[in-house]
Amino acid sequence: MRAVVLGAAAGGGFPQWNSNAEACRRARAGDPGAPHRTQASLAVSGDGERWFLINASPDLREQIQAQAILHPKRNLRSSPIEGVILTGADVDAIAGLLHMRERQAFTLYGSDRVLGVLKTNPIFNVLSGECVRREMVPLGQPFEPRHVDGSGCGLSIELFDVPGKVALYLETGSSPQELAGKAGDTVGVEIRPMDDKAAKRLIYVPGCAAMTDGLKRRLAGASIVLFDGTLWRDDEMVRAGLGPKTGQRMGHMSVSGPDGTVAAFRDIPVARKILVHINNSNPILLDDSVERRALDEEGWEVAYDGMEVTP
Ligand code: MLT
Ligand code: MN
Repeated sequence: MRAVVLGAAAGGGFPQWNSNAEACRRARAGDPGAPHRTQASLAVSGDGERWFLINASPDLREQIQAQAILHPKRNLRSSPIEGVILTGADVDAIAGLLHMRERQAFTLYGSDRVLGVLKTNPIFNVLSGECVRREMVPLGQPFEPRHVDGSGCGLSIELFDVPGKVALYLETGSSPQELAGKAGDTVGVEIRPMDDKAAKRLIYVPGCAAMTDGLKRRLAGASIVLFDGTLWRDDEMVRAGLGPKTGQRMGHMSVSGPDGTVAAFRDIPVARKILVHINNSNPILLDDSVERRALDEEGWEVAYDGMEVTP
């Protein structure tokens, strides 16, 4: 099994096109302490040759360019990308599907909720049903994704519900229930090699609104967890004058604070803990920030584009 971070930033990327904040200015100026990051996506493979994407970010075209593992190698028209597994219907998880519209066969996996959103958006019909198979994945049931030729990929994959939020463009009201959505709107992904006696497990959770006991039990003992690192503080965007929304309003728990991710993980045994889906307002994107140093001391890593995260 192999796993590679294609993009480590949250929606908007780093730098974000319309942000003139200090960190984005540093990134734009090529400051080595503020490296660019594209929008969140992970590539996983059972055989090291054929790959499945977890989410198709709006930056997918650039991510494929940057990663030789995803370049066409077999036929005149071909791709090592055999499938895409979706964790939600947010723009930063699905917009990259529109880059995959050149009559290339692959399989699209997602919960009934997420595939339902794609079905009601006719723009996704550019992924012709003749080439792209859509497969609904029940929550909590491990399955082995198939290559296009029908062979098993050698990975056992399970989607599980996590506290989250409906996609921004699907918000119908502002009550907590309306915003939280339903089971399957926001999921995490657990990946393990089928033939693995060491029971290695990689868990990818790019969006999570709260830690629960059930989630703690699932995370405990994992080899690698890549977890929602959107904001450092819940109100950092408000305080910086960047926007009116808190992390809680956006469906993301914060990294710091008593209810934050670092605190929540202190009693969860995980061999390697990595933050992903990091917003451009989060100071951990800066290699020289005090927040980054605090994370180092807590044993957390900050994902970057191209980071190998093979368990
Ligand atoms: C999020 O992670 O909160 C969403 O991707 C926000 C968005 O849709 O822009
Ligand atoms: Mn997002």
